[in-house]
Amino acid sequence: MCGIVGYVGDRPCRDLLIAGLEKLEYRGYDSAGVSVISDGEIDSVRAVGNLANLRAAVEEHSSNGSVAVAAPPATIGVAHTRWATHGRVTEENAHPHGDCTDKIHIVLNGIVENHAELRKELADDGHVFTSETDAEIVSHLIERHYEGDLVDAVRRSFGELRGHYAFVAMHLDHADLLVAARKECPLIVGIGDGENFVGSAIPAFLAETRRVKMVENGEIVTITPEGVEISTPEGEVLEREEDEVTWDEDAAEKGGYPTFMKKEIHEQPDAVAETITDRLPGLDSVDLSELELGDELLRTVDRIVIVACGTSYHAGMIGRYAIEKWARVPVEMDVASEFRYRDPVIRDTDLVIGITQSGETADTLAAMRLAREAGAKVLAITNIMGSQATRDADAVLFTRAGLEIGVAATKTFVSQVAAMYLLGLRLGELRGTLAPDELRELIAGLKSIPSKIEETIATVDARCKAIARSHHERRFFLYIGRHIGLPVALEGALKLKEISYIPTDAYAAGEMKHGPIALLDESTPIVAVATDSPVLEKMLSNVEEARARGADVIAIATEGSDNVAEVADQTLFVPRTDWMLQPILAVLPLQLLAYYIAWDNGLNVDQPRNLAKTVTVE
Ligand code: M6R
Repeated sequence: MCGIVGYVGDRPCRDLLIAGLEKLEYRGYDSAGVSVISDGEIDSVRAVGNLANLRAAVEEHSSNGSVAVAAPPATIGVAHTRWATHGRVTEENAHPHGDCTDKIHIVLNGIVENHAELRKELADDGHVFTSETDAEIVSHLIERHYEGDLVDAVRRSFGELRGHYAFVAMHLDHADLLVAARKECPLIVGIGDGENFVGSAIPAFLAETRRVKMVENGEIVTITPEGVEISTPEGEVLEREEDEVTWDEDAAEKGGYPTFMKKEIHEQPDAVAETITDRLPGLDSVDLSELELGDELLRTVDRIVIVACGTSYHAGMIGRYAIEKWARVPVEMDVASEFRYRDPVIRDTDLVIGITQSGETADTLAAMRLAREAGAKVLAITNIMGSQATRDADAVLFTRAGLEIGVAATKTFVSQVAAMYLLGLRLGELRGTLAPDELRELIAGLKSIPSKIEETIATVDARCKAIARSHHERRFFLYIGRHIGLPVALEGALKLKEISYIPTDAYAAGEMKHGPIALLDESTPIVAVATDSPVLEKMLSNVEEARARGADVIAIATEGSDNVAEVADQTLFVPRTDWMLQPILAVLPLQLLAYYIAWDNGLNVDQPRNLAKTVTVE
């Protein structure tokens, strides 16, 4: 998740901008840059690595006799921290990006979905690109529409862009004007006296002002030293009240949430949108052309093996159900720490998928290496560009969840599940095992997931809090699920034990009668994942069995499933989707339940005892 800061006013702004970026460092980044209008030119410096590198590059740039990026009277500028999604981590790919005349500079967060077609169109018109990014399209598009009015050019460009993004543009000929636009990705204006700020998050300018105006989805903002005007893309000016931010800096880093985990739970719609948007350019096809495996391999592979640890393993399990159902390819899987030591049978015709959000988990890396040595093709699914997994694999599919600080994986999990769905659909498409209509419906369903995640969190949050309040002193929780509900149950149980230290167990519900049912009595809450699926009736019988033994049943169900509510004590509903997509929604109440139980017990949910975010030692 990248960071944006913009300033226009009467103060020298280099340090203000870089200080703003420093406040966004917690979001994670791999390169950074700053552009200001100084002495009649746009002066831009970018650097790979951390902000110390950017500061050093700025110093060097100044001492080389160029127009110093730092030199007063630069009083307008934009700055950015980049977390690479399109294009490698290089100085050329760092923002800001300029147009052909180098008079327009932009910084952008998010993804421009139709970047490939726009790049081609613009290149055919003679535009020359200097980076591999989707973001650079925007500066050239504004250039194409610019006829002396930057606001109008941004508005017209905005109309041509698809995806989810927020950007800020400045033009050399308008040295007191920033124009910004928001489509889903956050954008906030900070109001000062004779100066104004814009940022992707409040910490970017909190040290300077606490007065803010929230920019809503689909709005254009013009920012000058004297004022801020928010309008629709059609030019209708909108009234917007100012708000006063009361958070301290610590809360601001957490986006106003009390913990990183809570913030990251709320970032899930965005994390999934970033992961799927440009890979689903329409409804007919999944674009995974970035995979350096080739369509032929995906079309012909006759066995897939998934290796992963912890939460990533659970994402892999959902992927297994999806791949087997949609593409009819046999999938085996194992926890990486078992796979690597059990002398597994690996064939050179296998595709082995290593799932690791950090890209550094020792067991997963070892399992991937073993597979590669045996001649299999290895695909890494990871969240971190440049991580070891990306170097140890033949191909990489990136999730784009941004930096996850809380040890408990939340937004990286749903992004991994989304990535596995993309892969399952692409395999089904290439192998002809999904009919075109079915593929269309599933793609449409997947595209609607980010807004459904948002809806789910909003509707279940208070109820999860209340349920947690009534159960947080329980000594043991049992989770059950069947089919695609099983990995959700396993993940819910892992979340609760990891952050609350309450023992949990998770079972395939059909296994209950083979022993675990002995655990049940009135002191045991049972969490049943009972969303829509062809085995829902069987799941309900298992719930009845538990109820009959006095257990309190907390059920996760698909909205409208009154039959589930009838047999449960408490039911948390998630929106209806294709049943195979339900896990990505069903896990949300379980994350919140675990969160509130740990919170009620006064625990540090961001850093549970004995656990580190990345497990690199063997
Ligand atoms: O970075 P990885 O995805 O390889 O990490 C694997 C596990 O350590 C991780 O998923 C862990 O189980 C979660 N942090 C639990 O919330």
